[in-house]
Amino acid sequence: MEALSAPQNIIEIRGLGLSFEQDGQRTEVLRGLDLDVARGEFLAIVGSSGVGKSTLLRVLMDLAKPTSGSVKVTQNPKGNRDLALVFQDSRLLPWRRVLSNTLFGLEKTSLPKAQRQERALKALALVGLRDLADRWPYQLSGGQRQRVSLARALAVDPEILLMDEPFSALDVATRENLQDELIRIRAQTGKTIIFVTHDIDEAVYLADRIVALGGKPGEVRSVKVIDIPRPRRRNAIALQEISQTIKDAITAEAVAARDDWVI
Ligand SMILES: Nc1ncnc2c1ncn2[C@@H]1O[C@H](COP(=O)(O)OP(=O)(O)O)[C@@H](O)[C@H]1O
Ligand SMILES: [Mg+2]
Repeated sequence: MEALSAPQNIIEIRGLGLSFEQDGQRTEVLRGLDLDVARGEFLAIVGSSGVGKSTLLRVLMDLAKPTSGSVKVTQNPKGNRDLALVFQDSRLLPWRRVLSNTLFGLEKTSLPKAQRQERALKALALVGLRDLADRWPYQLSGGQRQRVSLARALAVDPEILLMDEPFSALDVATRENLQDELIRIRAQTGKTIIFVTHDIDEAVYLADRIVALGGKPGEVRSVKVIDIPRPRRRNAIALQEISQTIKDAITAEAVAARDDWVI
């Protein structure tokens, strides 16, 4: 029998490869990717633009099919993958009020209307927007729009929250504010979070573990556990040191790759 204390992986990816075929040309985007994610973990995925971060999230959402390898996502009791995805742009429907936007993901469920409403309001409260439920998207700031998009994802109460550079388009103060909100929401809900960013400092501040993708096709280049206790101080020396180590590794790789190109 399995020990009760054994860490439980909610995601297991083995040898994942993915290629796109377009106009008879094949582009290999991901190759031989292995990754486990533990239940309740906050995992950050970093890597330069085009390395395949968004594609990896799309595979997890079952929106893109792997060409090779296996992707196991623990299913909920209904037999579905239980994930929600938050994007860089909030993707709110402009003709719907905040509450109605938050209800969006729940409309596919069989929950009674009153219960859906209750879930949406609870999610809005969780992101601190309960009072703005009746506003239109155009009446919100960029940060508030991103909060609504987070509420929309939380309303469906997914096991796993996928976030694709969710704060990249925000100004620094708003971004830091939302980072702290996310840490609080995570502590409150215990969700497993996979957070894609190209901002190493952001990854180090937020995550329990950072996976760096690199290369073309993209593969796992390094994995770093951030065992700094929480609450963390943004400017803590220990965080800065980890951040610098990762940045140095990425720079070294970029330099090595450039050498390859020299004819
Ligand atoms: N539907 C698609 N068809 C063809 N190529 C794609 C498609 N989606 C993504 N790509 C290519 O896959 C690579 C990785 O893209 P993406 O996962 O968006 O990278 P990242 O999110 O790390 O910036 C890019 O070269 C991109 O052009
Ligand atoms: Mg992307």
